[in-house]
Amino acid sequence: MEARKVVLADHEIPKQWYNIQADLPKPMSPPLHPGTGKPVGPEDLAPVFPMNLIEQEVSQQRWIDIPGEVLDKYLIWRPSPLCRATNFEKLLDAPVKIYYKYEGSSPAGSHKPNTAIAQAYYNKAFGIKRLATETGAGQWGSALAMACRMFDLECRVYMVRVSYEQKPYRRMMMNTWGAECIPSPSDRTEAGRQILAAHPDSPGSLGIAISEAVEDAVTHENSRYSLGSVLNHVLLHQTIIGLEAQKQFEKIGLYPDVVIGCAGGGSNFAGISLPFVRDKIHGKQVRVIGAEPASCPTMTRGPFAYDFGDLAMKTPLLPMYTLGHDFMPAPIHAGGLRYHGMAPIVSHLLREGLIEAAAYDQIETFESGVRWARAEGIIPAPETNHAIAAVVAEARRAKEEGKERTILFNFSGHGMVDMAAYDAYLSGKLSPYQLPDEEINRALKAIENLPKP
Ligand SMILES: Cc1ncc(COP(=O)(O)O)c(C=O)c1O
Repeated sequence: MEARKVVLADHEIPKQWYNIQADLPKPMSPPLHPGTGKPVGPEDLAPVFPMNLIEQEVSQQRWIDIPGEVLDKYLIWRPSPLCRATNFEKLLDAPVKIYYKYEGSSPAGSHKPNTAIAQAYYNKAFGIKRLATETGAGQWGSALAMACRMFDLECRVYMVRVSYEQKPYRRMMMNTWGAECIPSPSDRTEAGRQILAAHPDSPGSLGIAISEAVEDAVTHENSRYSLGSVLNHVLLHQTIIGLEAQKQFEKIGLYPDVVIGCAGGGSNFAGISLPFVRDKIHGKQVRVIGAEPASCPTMTRGPFAYDFGDLAMKTPLLPMYTLGHDFMPAPIHAGGLRYHGMAPIVSHLLREGLIEAAAYDQIETFESGVRWARAEGIIPAPETNHAIAAVVAEARRAKEEGKERTILFNFSGHGMVDMAAYDAYLSGKLSPYQLPDEEINRALKAIENLPKP
C-alpha cells in the first residue's frame, strides 16, 4: 500500500532553518533608506525590530539554529504531515501524484505561527515587552496573538477595517489569546488620523495598517513591530515547511517535479520552496511556481523596482516586484494575497529565472477549492485555493503532454473561519475581475521617481 500520510516523529523535526542568501548565484540588491536613498544599516532598523532579528535579516549564514524554546512550541503541531491527495488525483484523472504539506494543522489554522512564534521568542529574548502588527483578514494577527501569549508579551493588532467588520471570528481569536485588535484606520496614530480626516469612511488597507503598526511600535516604550511576510527573516522561519517536506519525500523515495505555493507577500511559498530552490541551484530538475490572484498580479504584471512596503512611505525601499505602494486591490476574498509587493527574496529568484509565477481569477480558485473540499474533505483557506488552482493547471498540462508528474504544494491554511467567502461564491455573488492596465499604470506613477535596482 502506498503511503497516504508521511509523518515525522517529534525528534525528526529540523533543528535549523535554511537561509538561501548563502546559495544565491547573484547577491540581492540591498534595501534603501527612504530618506537618504543609501543602503539601510542595522542601526536604521533598530527602532522597529530587535537586533537579533535584524541580524537574521541580513545574515549570509546558510543554516541558522532554531532555539530550543521555539522548537518546544513548534512541537505542539509540527512536524506537519505530508499527505497524498489520492481522491483529488482520481477526480483530475491525470498522470500526477499530488502531495501537500498540511499547515492548517497549526493552532491558528495556517503557516503563520511558524514565524510568529520565532518572532515573539526573539523579541522576548531581546527584552521587548510589547509587539504591534497589522493584519488583513486576520490570519497573521491571530497567529501573532497566540505567539505573544506563549511568550508573555502584550500584542496590539491593527486590522483592516473592512475585514474587522466582515470577519469577526479572527478578531475573537485574537481577543481569546489576549491581544488587542483595533480597526484601521484608527485614531490611535498620526497616520490613521490623517486618513480618517480625509476619508472618514475609509475601509482601510494593508498599506495603511502597516503604517499604523510601525508608528505605534516606534512611539511606545519597549515595543517593536512584527511583520508576517515579505522580509528575509520571515521567509527564513517558514523554511521549516520545505525542510520537513524534503525529509518526508526522502522517506518514500520520491522527489517532486513541481513545487507550488500561493503567494501574497511570499512567505508560505518561500517556506515550502526555498530548500528545493537550493537543490535546483545545485543542478536538480524541479519547477517552482508561485500562484497569485489575477486582481493583485504583483509578479505577473508588476515591474521589478524599488518601492515602499507601506502607504505612508515610512518603511525602507525594498527591491521587489510591485504594483506601487498606493495600489488598492479589489476586495477579493483571499485577504492574505492583497499586498502590492512581493518578498525581495522571491522577487530576486523570479528575476533570475529560478522560479515561475502564474495568476488565477478568484472564480477559478474557488471552483478548484470546492472541488478539493468535495474530494479530500478539508475546506481550504481562500488563499490556499490559488495553489490548488495551480495544481489543477499542472495536472491538466501533464495530461496534455502525457507525462507523469509528482506535484508538491503547500496547503497554507484551512478555511473554517472564511466561510462567508465560500457563501459568496456558492450563491453566485462573486464575479471574475479583470484588472485594467490603466489602474496598474496609475499606481506605478507613484514609484516613477524612486531609485532603480
Ligand atoms: C492561509 C494563508 N495562505 C497564504 C497567505 C499569504 O501570505 P504569504 O504569501 O506571506 O504566505 C496568507 C496570508 O494571510 C494566509 O492566511
